[in-house]
Formats: sequence, C-alpha cells, structure tokens
Amino acid sequence: MSKVAKLSDPSGRGKVAGYDVTFPTMQHRYTQEEIDAVVKVMTPNDDGEMPGQTQGKYLEQFEKDFAAFVGSKYAFGVNNCTNALKLAAIFCHIKPGDEVIIPGYTYCASAIPFGDLGAKIVWADINPYTWTIDPDDFERKITPKTKAVVCVHLLGIPCDMKKIMPIARKHGLYVVEDCAQAMDCTIDGQHVGTFGDFGCFSFHSAKTMTTLGEGGMFICQDDQIAHNVPGIRHNGLCAYQGERERYWVPAMSCVDEFLEDRWPQNFCLGEAQCALGSVQLKSVYSNNEILRAQDARIRAALADLPEISFPGIVEGGRYVVHQYVMHYDGSAYGKNRNDLLDLLTGKYRVRAIVQYYPLYRFPLFQKKGMGAYDCPVLDKWWDDSFSFPWWCGVDDPEGTNEKIDLMCERLRAAVLELRG
Ligand SMILES: Cc1ncc(COP(=O)(O)O)c(C=O)c1O
Repeated sequence: MSKVAKLSDPSGRGKVAGYDVTFPTMQHRYTQEEIDAVVKVMTPNDDGEMPGQTQGKYLEQFEKDFAAFVGSKYAFGVNNCTNALKLAAIFCHIKPGDEVIIPGYTYCASAIPFGDLGAKIVWADINPYTWTIDPDDFERKITPKTKAVVCVHLLGIPCDMKKIMPIARKHGLYVVEDCAQAMDCTIDGQHVGTFGDFGCFSFHSAKTMTTLGEGGMFICQDDQIAHNVPGIRHNGLCAYQGERERYWVPAMSCVDEFLEDRWPQNFCLGEAQCALGSVQLKSVYSNNEILRAQDARIRAALADLPEISFPGIVEGGRYVVHQYVMHYDGSAYGKNRNDLLDLLTGKYRVRAIVQYYPLYRFPLFQKKGMGAYDCPVLDKWWDDSFSFPWWCGVDDPEGTNEKIDLMCERLRAAVLELRG
C-alpha cells in the first residue's frame, strides 16, 4: 500500500454511511461570549487603534488564568503542546546520548521532541491497572544515562505521580508531565502537571478546550527557568535593560539573553487565541462533569460483563474521560479484540476504533533505532483494547444519553454473541 502525505482519517468523523454510531466531528462550537472575545481582538478601539495581535495583554491574562486554574506558579502560552514538550526537553538539557523514559502507549508527540534533541527513547511498560506508565518498570529502566522521564496522563487518566516522583528524585531525573489530554485531572486535588518539573498542555481542537484549533501551555515552578522561558519562546528576543542614548542602537531588542547554551525557538501564541482561551477555561469543569457521568453510566451498564474492563484510577485521582478506551478479554471463548470489532462495527454498526499504537511499532521510531522494547503488559494489552466513538467536548449536549445507551446495548450484544 502506498503512503501519501495527506492524512486519511479511518475513524471517519461525522456521518459515515452504514453506521448507526460514528466518530464525532470533534470541533468546538463557540458560545457568543467566546466569539465576542475573539472579535474584540479584531476590532479597533474607540481611538481607531487596533489591539495588539501577539504577546500582549491577552497572553498575560490567559497565562494568569491558566496558572490559577491548575495551581501553578508559572504558565506560558505556546503554539501547541508538542512545542511545550520541546521547551521541556530544552530545559532538561537533553543532548545526544541521553536516555529519556517514555511510556510506549501514548501519542507520538510525547516522544518526538526528545528524539529531536538526540535522546535515546527507552520505552516504559504500562501498569495493567491504570494503563499509564508503570512506576516499577520506570525504575527498572533507569541507567546512568537516564536524564528524564515523561509521564503521560493519557486518556485523561492520572499517572501514579505519588510513586513516580520519589523514584525520579532519588535518581536526580527531570520529570516532564504530558497533560495534553488531562485538563482538570488531579490527584488529591493537585492538578497534574504540577507534580514534576514541567507540565505541557494542548489546546488543539480535539482537546477539552481549544484556542482556535491550535495552542498549548507550558508550566513550571522554578523561578530561574520561568525567567528564561520568554526568550527561548520567542527567538531570544528581549528588551535591553536600562536607558540607551539612542534607542535604536545597537538594535531594538536583544537576541542573546536568557539562552545559556540553547538555541531559541518561536513558539508564540496569538492574542485572539489567548482571548478565547481565557473564556474556554470557564467551561472545563462542567464539561468534564458530563463526561464523568457518562462514564459512570457506561460502567454500570456493562458491569456484569467480565470480558470488558475499564482503567483503574489511582487513589485520590480524578479521571477526566478524554477518550473512551476499554479492554476486551475473550480468551475464555477463544475470541479476541478483532473478533469483537468485526461484530461491533459490521453487524452492530458502531464505528468503534482502536486508540493509539505502541510507539515502538511505528516505522519512525524503528528507523531511528528505537524499535527495541521490553513492554510485555502493553504488548498484550494493546491487542485487546478498543474504544467507543468519543469526543471530550461532549457529543451529547442535550444529555439524552441515547448514543451512550445504544453503544452499550450493541457492545453487550456483540460480547454475548462471541460467547457462542
Ligand atoms: C498525549 C499527547 N501529547 C501531545 C500532544 C500534542 O499536542 P499538540 O497537537 O497541541 O501539539 C497530543 C495531541 O494530540 C497528545 O494527545
């Protein structure tokens, strides 16, 4: 099969002929307040002057609002989460030969920024209960070359940070938290992203909140790093300190501050995006409450089917149901996940999908020499995993639960049929 650059979307978003339940289009619908906030940035003020379009008061406000939301000392708006992770990799001082431990089960962007700086990625296994990075396996894989660990709160499930942090600190490792799917995900009331050294969030349109399709946030707690972020985020640009006799000499701004040994980047987020972000933050809690109620309904409806299982949540953890992944164990009947999906998608017309792929199986990482792995739990678990068509922005705004109930009914029918 030839590979083409254009992205194909096998999940088939929106209506797909032949299916009763399909994948949502996953595009945010904006409230009037959100539209007004963006339009304001596009509208001249009473003196006819245009508001600033980048790095102005809306960025400052959004960063303040976001820091308050997650309980972080510092927050920096960036143009996507991949680049928030790149900032984290830069501040971990990743150089060729360093090892970074990353769960094999995640989206590729959790690993790419570290590989890009020359790290060797060491794949950690998942914990069979939480489906996130296994703390014991993480510890087993630490070597003298290990520089950092990336904890991915994938699917909105919190990693076991209370176990991971002492291990990382004992070995002097940086801890990066990939919170792209974990807005409002907490452990004992503490927001994920604030346990480690760096937290990285996504506002891509498929996420809980968006800043016009793309966007991200980098958070940290360290004063010196926070001091250095703006320069690295924006091509090393910063104001000269103090007065100069001629303001244009030697140049309007300096490009060599705050960089130390690093090259700067341009990861800036525009003002209209920030204006929207501040308003979008207001609906995160209520949105997640709906998703949690839907999750409870699904678990209750399928509780008597031993073949189906759900992620376990660490004590004190708050799961935000970003994706709806389940596990099917049909081994007692000689059946597997593909048998289930053949029935569910074919006869029962629910366009279920399989989420993610162990990253070490992707040609990209294999070609980069990172195809080696020792992840027995993930390797077996992934082959039995599947997910409902799902949208963390809530695909049932009227709250009828019709689609939820239909999916549960059809899944039940398929599971029972496979028992023979
Ligand atoms: C777990 C995870 N990490 C990182 C990213 C990258 O986010 P962005 O698209 O904002 O770069 C995503 C996006 O889907 C993600 O799901």
